[in-house]
Amino acid sequence: MESAGPLDGRRILVTGAGGQLGIALQQQMSRGVELLAPDRGRLDITDAGAVTEAIRDFRPDWIINAAAYTAVDKAESEPEAAFAINRDGAANLARAAGEVGARMVQISTDYVFDGTLARPCRPDDPVNPVNVYGESKLAGEIATREILGDDLLILRTAWVYAPHGRNFLTTMLRLMGERSELKVVEDQVGTPTSALTLSSTILSALEKEITGTHHWTDAGVASWYDFACAIRDLAMEAGLKLGVRRILPITTADYPTPARRPACSLLDKQSLRTAIADDGMHWREALQRAVARSAGL
Ligand SMILES: NC(=O)c1ccc[n+]([C@@H]2O[C@H](COP(=O)([O-])OP(=O)(O)OC[C@H]3O[C@@H](n4cnc5c(N)ncnc54)[C@H](OP(=O)(O)O)[C@@H]3O)[C@@H](O)[C@H]2O)c1
Repeated sequence: MESAGPLDGRRILVTGAGGQLGIALQQQMSRGVELLAPDRGRLDITDAGAVTEAIRDFRPDWIINAAAYTAVDKAESEPEAAFAINRDGAANLARAAGEVGARMVQISTDYVFDGTLARPCRPDDPVNPVNVYGESKLAGEIATREILGDDLLILRTAWVYAPHGRNFLTTMLRLMGERSELKVVEDQVGTPTSALTLSSTILSALEKEITGTHHWTDAGVASWYDFACAIRDLAMEAGLKLGVRRILPITTADYPTPARRPACSLLDKQSLRTAIADDGMHWREALQRAVARSAGL
């Protein structure tokens, strides 16, 4: 028989349930939780009327907002769409949460920072987004904080991937199957973060009723180039057949993109590590588990 989980009996609404974090949250949720997890087709967070109705009907204890406009480069030419989802959609959820007395988790990003500090960013460091996506996510933080005050957990994370969905891991595995040579940026650093470990942390934070602004990624540091090399090595260890022979390190200047990105995306996680009494998993170990799932092991 399945043992009781600490969140059993709680009502949790997960928005954006078709995304990589939304799927991982559903996979990690204990069966005793009363879960409502609509994807975008079933609940569009920009539809204020639909959001209010869904939340009045379900009366969640917690709302985890995993819905977002996440196309960082496309956001440069579609700022209205990015702000409509990342600011206004989040605010719709916060208002409806306030009405029924629910608490909310607003997932945010390292891209609220400009990445110029010579150390990992702390939750209270000055924000200064360098792209439209980061601006829209910061606007979502501000809007939800204004509405919900202390009933809100803002959790900033970075470099999220999963065995499912469109992300750096799945893109690299596809390209490593198709090409013999890949070039990957070496002068941006951060921490690859598994949607599965991130989901576990979010659920631990809910159990402990943590609010305020905190940071979470897996542990350790990598460049995109390190991340790519680790994917290749772990995928080969897991028995995946790859055509790639060489991975070459390049600079950001060699790979121009519409959106600027912070050079240093490291987040200081100490406040949450202390609050949930967990230092997290090294990114390579978490990656090994995700690659094993991709390989069907
Ligand atoms: N991925 C990263 O590296 C990263 C880094 C830092 C922070 N984050 C944050 O982490 C959270 C989860 O992101 P993710 O990586 O899971 O992204 P994702 O895979 O792109 O998932 C986002 C989901 O939100 C859905 N969505 C978009 N607009 C919506 C709307 N109006 N109403 C309802 N759902 C909507 C998307 O549906 P469609 O696909 O149908 O549009 C998608 O299923 C986001 O807050 C993101 O900003 C992500």
